[in-house]
Amino acid sequence: MNKTNILIDHNFTVGKTDDRIYGSFIEHLGRAVYGGIFEPGHPTADEDGFRTDVLDLIKEAKVPIVRYPGGNFVSGYNWRDGVGPVENRPRRLELAWGSTEPNTFGTNEFMKWCKKADCAPLMAVNLGTGTAEDARALVEYCNHKGGTYYSDLRIAHGYKEPHKIKTWCLGNEMDGPWQMGHKTAAEYGRVACETAKLMKWTDPSIETVLCGSSNWGMRSFGDWEATALDLAYDHVDYISLHTYYGDHHGDLKNFLAKSMDMEAFIESVIAACDFVKGKKHSKKTINLSFDEWNVWYHSNGTPFEKWSVSPHILEDVYDFADVLLVGCMLNVLLRHCDRVKIACLAQLVNVIAPIMTDNGGNAWKQTIFHPYALTSQFGRGEVLQAKVTGSKYDCREYTDVLDVDSVCVYNEEKQELVIFAVNRSEEENLLTVQAGGFEDFVPVDHTVIAGFATDLTNTATAQPVQPAQAALPQKTEKGIETVLRSMSWNMIRLAKK
Ligand code: AHR
Repeated sequence: MNKTNILIDHNFTVGKTDDRIYGSFIEHLGRAVYGGIFEPGHPTADEDGFRTDVLDLIKEAKVPIVRYPGGNFVSGYNWRDGVGPVENRPRRLELAWGSTEPNTFGTNEFMKWCKKADCAPLMAVNLGTGTAEDARALVEYCNHKGGTYYSDLRIAHGYKEPHKIKTWCLGNEMDGPWQMGHKTAAEYGRVACETAKLMKWTDPSIETVLCGSSNWGMRSFGDWEATALDLAYDHVDYISLHTYYGDHHGDLKNFLAKSMDMEAFIESVIAACDFVKGKKHSKKTINLSFDEWNVWYHSNGTPFEKWSVSPHILEDVYDFADVLLVGCMLNVLLRHCDRVKIACLAQLVNVIAPIMTDNGGNAWKQTIFHPYALTSQFGRGEVLQAKVTGSKYDCREYTDVLDVDSVCVYNEEKQELVIFAVNRSEEENLLTVQAGGFEDFVPVDHTVIAGFATDLTNTATAQPVQPAQAALPQKTEKGIETVLRSMSWNMIRLAKK
């Protein structure tokens, strides 16, 4: 049988997790907002039109922060269209996704929704067609107490208390030619610097996220990060990363190893941040906001009616293989918790999302909801340094891929040690965990997602892909031992006796 050994010690940690790594994303795109989180008239809609069936699932996943309103959408968005009396709001052609935007949901509705969802906003400003003044005015509208034009406008719109939005994204994927107002790194770096400066002068308590490359494969990758950071360093706190992986059909082993790509991407961006830090002799460290990540391919090419309102687009139906890769990607984020402070599973509802809805009907959990929600619920605390040895494989793009991808998190408050382990091999794997300093901890839970065909999906009518309980691991003289099923996502919890 294949074997894996994890050696950890209570005293050796990577860092403490920032809850915000379990964030997600709602864009004005397809049915993410309209028919997703917001559907006045739906049987579960509350007095604000928010779907409470969807809110319940979001709360179950403990989503701490939600990025909004885009995505590509934000690069053409005038936030003024989405505030004030709904009957006066304009319908607009939305160029990023070829839809019509009714603007019946905007900044204030989103902030109200965030309160009900128990999450913080990660607000993006338009640096495509928008100006530094537009962005700064939005900060004043949202965060200034009152007594000025924009803060009084918010009050006139019925929101007396400032929204106190802490974290702001400076545009979206500005390196991509598909982006409205696409810029070179130097053009973007200057605009981001001046915009962030004015935003912070308006509210010095905010923090800002600079756009990094829209994916690691961009030809400008590296130079983009170094140039944009060099120009905006003093006014930004994070740099963004985005990645999506697609299609396991034909090469499952390679697909499941894609988390290695994500890991190398993170390490390269850290190197770029630290290069600029060194060059500037700065004391400030730029951290990472991995504010779009997921599997995305199932819905590619699905036709929709151009200029319709909230069409069915990007509605990926996830399968069991996606559970395994999403699990590995969560492990990667955790292993880099010392530098990745924010991350957003993209997106949250209907659009490449863990939660799906029918208009007027049910909301349900896609397959990937489970690793996401369980890791969010239990993967908080100190991530432990781990020496992992074990069986490996080679595939088309990667070599020395560990069969078992893992991470260990110690939650001091709950006195709980949690091991997340994905066995991406078709063979069982004997896992041994040698946990120094945890001698008085005993296994209390082994949750597993396994035993499904890789193509199996959850739908509105049937959700077969679910977590189940496995036999508790044994404590032997070698450590904590258990057999991980072939192709399985596992969460093993140990509690103090
Ligand atoms: O999440 C879907 C899209 O993917 C976002 O709008 C964009 O930022 C990315 O390319």
